[in-house]
Amino acid sequence: MGHSAEWPIFFRNIFMADESTVVAELGKDGLAAMVAAFYQRVRTDDLMGPMYPDDDWEGSEERLREFLWFRIAQDPTYLLKRGHPRLRMRHMPFQIGIAERDRWLELMGAAMDEVGVQGESRQWLDDFFAQIADFMRNREEG
Ligand code: HEM
Repeated sequence: MGHSAEWPIFFRNIFMADESTVVAELGKDGLAAMVAAFYQRVRTDDLMGPMYPDDDWEGSEERLREFLWFRIAQDPTYLLKRGHPRLRMRHMPFQIGIAERDRWLELMGAAMDEVGVQGESRQWLDDFFAQIADFMRNREEG
């Protein structure tokens, strides 16, 4: 009786990785390095490269970097510059299906490998990116 049924929840909440885990392990600099490594790959990727505005690579990198700083490290810069993220709406101009989703995740996975994102942070980010990338899909697959 008593509280025994609540103990598993209690321990999960204490030990589960969250945004603060990523801030502690990677910091804003680590996230910036990860985003830079990601865009290095996006630029030359046959599927992803052509989707991005070709004359604003610095801007694209800045938007993702500041979005992650906002979402993970409570830095308000993205919000002040761009307003509410509304990511799904902002991805509507681009055709995003399973191939695009998977390529985005593959390039981000390689970027995380390159800068050495591991452990709890890596698990949390893998999950976080997979969820958002899947949510961005806006094309019916045949
Ligand atoms: C699923 C595959 C995805 C594709 C093909 C894709 C593609 C794009 C493209 C072409 C842009 C416009 C260029 C730019 O303004 O930077 C963009 C913007 C952006 N994407 Fe993605 N994206 C994907 C997934 C994601 C994911 C998973 C995230 C976040 C974790 C994300 C975050 C952003 C952000 C923050 C912007 C800038 C929004 C703004 O302020 O205008 N995208 N994306």
